[in-house]
Amino acid sequence: MDINRQHEAPLYTALEKFRRLRVVPFDVPGHKRGRGNMELVEFLGGKCVEIDVNSMKPLDNLCHPVSVIKEAEDLAADAFGAAHAFFMVGGTTSAVQSMVLTACKHGDKIIMPRNVHKSAINALVLCGAIPVYIDPKVDTKLGIPLGMELADVRAAVEANPDAKAILINNPSYYGICSDLQSIVNLAHEKGMLALVDEAHGTHLYFGENLPLNGMAAGADMCAISMHKSGGSLTQSSLLLVNDTINEGYVSNIINLTQTTSASYLLLGSLDISRRNLALKGAESFAKVCGMASYARKEINDIEGYYAFGSELINGGSVFDFDETKLVINTRGIGLTGIEVYDLLREEYDIQMEFGDLSNVMAYISIGDRLQDIERLAGALDDIARLYAKPETSFFSAEYVTPIVKATPQEAFYSDKIKLPLRETIGRICAESVMCYPPGIPILAPGEMITEEIIDYINLAKEKGCSMQGPESEDISELGVLR
Ligand SMILES: Cc1ncc(COP(=O)(O)O)c(C=O)c1O
Repeated sequence: MDINRQHEAPLYTALEKFRRLRVVPFDVPGHKRGRGNMELVEFLGGKCVEIDVNSMKPLDNLCHPVSVIKEAEDLAADAFGAAHAFFMVGGTTSAVQSMVLTACKHGDKIIMPRNVHKSAINALVLCGAIPVYIDPKVDTKLGIPLGMELADVRAAVEANPDAKAILINNPSYYGICSDLQSIVNLAHEKGMLALVDEAHGTHLYFGENLPLNGMAAGADMCAISMHKSGGSLTQSSLLLVNDTINEGYVSNIINLTQTTSASYLLLGSLDISRRNLALKGAESFAKVCGMASYARKEINDIEGYYAFGSELINGGSVFDFDETKLVINTRGIGLTGIEVYDLLREEYDIQMEFGDLSNVMAYISIGDRLQDIERLAGALDDIARLYAKPETSFFSAEYVTPIVKATPQEAFYSDKIKLPLRETIGRICAESVMCYPPGIPILAPGEMITEEIIDYINLAKEKGCSMQGPESEDISELGVLR
């Protein structure tokens, strides 16, 4: 990284310059710097609406950058160690989908863990690629899916030498990392692309003593959620590509679905955040790690909770662990993670990242303060004293091994009928079902519906997980193949 250049922020500078000019707007957006919608100005502030502008020559165009956006993307590539970086305004969903659509066309195979985010499976609906799923190992005590074992990836590669790519989560929502370097090497030995979903891994590029990041491992493409640990505005992300990839083709793929009216609020925030990360990332993430480990210790002193950490590392399914992730197992107090999530919000005004059937997660970032961590630990202590129940039986994991009967695209576009949940057992699902977050499908299009899966969905609904995927609003019915 060229640290001198990283002080620059060309897109942000161009936006600030534009703000000072008194350009008369006869272009969209129609609010005309807020003058046509004063409520919007009151809501968001003048500084915000003034730069909510459309592409124009001095501000470049995201669909084909040639000036300030291109310079900002070059700086992002330099900061992340990539050959090229694309600014993305459709979230990391669009970055993950662009990776898959670049690597695969209809009928191509792609190897991936089944506990991928829905964006990866939806990419298969779009392009018609065939998933070769690797079952992640499961920690039945914690109720979480783990990483891919290298031996399982090797077996999938041997059985499917014609696969075009391997997709890897680095890390998972729960902080679990697979043996990224060996998987990338294996992919390349076999002529496959290595694609990395780093929605939860922006900080791995800047923090010290954190797990290996995708570009450092030599991956071909990485999807980066700048808006998660990178500090940019919600919905802004990066797609990194290596010099093994035809950048122009990726640009065409992105432009298949990307808006032609990209928000400069999002783009500007990417430029500022990249500069911050490059200049201050190491220091910031050292603080985040310090806060997470302090929180882990405080919470583990309370009986009934287990905030897990790097002690899980086992050289295989947990090859490495991202210490910034604070996931608290709640089984010991007899409550599901989602019940603790709801109590924290309703009784203590604390908003957690997500709760599942066994865990609740706090997203720790540079914006947190030690007193807030103490407040969280205090509230968890209270909940354990006031609401704990005898430990009952829990589902063994947030993951049920799928029985795949059709590709996601075949199932999604097939002739289907809707049936009440219980009546779908034994049928092939045409939709996805998931708790969001984390957004990992319990069922994906093309998978056999079993009694175990329906029990799981019913329990998740009963416990108050927020569910999505099916057409049916209350998830009382599922679309199945006729
Ligand atoms: C692993 C993973 N990949 C991709 C995404 C998609 O990110 P976004 O919400 O920015 O579209 C998420 C979102 O949580 C995720 O958890």
